[in-house]
Amino acid sequence: MRENSMVEERLPLPFPIPPGVFAETVTEVKHYTSRLFQFRMTRPRSFRFRSGEFVMIGLPNAEKPIYRAYSISSPAWDDELEFFSIKVPGGPLTEHLQKIVPGDTILMRKKPTGTLILDALLAGSRLFMLSTGTGIAPFASLMRDPETYEKFREVVVTHTCRERAELAYGYETVAKTLDDPLVGDEAREKLIHFPTTTREPSQTVGRITDKIDDLSLFRSIGGSPFNPEHDRVMICGSMAMLQELKSKLEGMGFTEGSNSSPGQFVIERAFVD
Ligand code: A2P
Repeated sequence: MRENSMVEERLPLPFPIPPGVFAETVTEVKHYTSRLFQFRMTRPRSFRFRSGEFVMIGLPNAEKPIYRAYSISSPAWDDELEFFSIKVPGGPLTEHLQKIVPGDTILMRKKPTGTLILDALLAGSRLFMLSTGTGIAPFASLMRDPETYEKFREVVVTHTCRERAELAYGYETVAKTLDDPLVGDEAREKLIHFPTTTREPSQTVGRITDKIDDLSLFRSIGGSPFNPEHDRVMICGSMAMLQELKSKLEGMGFTEGSNSSPGQFVIERAFVD
């Protein structure tokens, strides 16, 4: 009821909604640091996606709105859609997007896409989701999807940021996952969270690439080093991190997968940077 009255009271949009686009209402905004925030919005009834996919997001503030790719960080079963965003100083979209408040309108193109989906991976037993910064967003979706736990006996989510405060969204999402009535039991058994910082002291300091090289990642989680036979890897973060991890994995005999041809690892850039 409240949501309807909120929509009715909303001022008319300054520009018509472009074709092929949903206009949704912001329900929640949370700022973590001066560089990071999360927002949630209503989900169109007809909108379907696979956990891990991304959509194009824009604002109704111009005749031809600017769109940027955003991984959906909520799972496919959620009634709302959640996103985790960076604030780029002077960024054509995020400069405005960071000012949204509940009740505002967000535009979303209708078609989701992306390679960080379970269908792009061959069957395996351990799933590693390696992220830096906002690259944790698609994994926040996947770690809350029951299918992830149906397909893998162990799920390791690594998150590397410069500073401790930037890890907060990951900690919160993991805590929610462990408490969730749908996936909590399985997550408590199978989910391992491995957060690290690189420019401030924390429980674990260092880049994930170094933790793979010196094997400390595997020592910490109590497991064996990467093996393409039974390990599957999803990677999302900065371009440099993707390239380094891709060549590392290929050097170990992993092959890259896609929607049409599943493989042993998949990668995607954390887009707005
Ligand atoms: P570092 O602080 O050593 O550069 P950013 O905020 O620039 O997107 O970086 C997010 C995190 O990703 C930082 O902790 C950063 O570490 C790390 N990072 C940057 N480049 C790489 C890389 N090539 N391999 C692994 N981690 C990286």
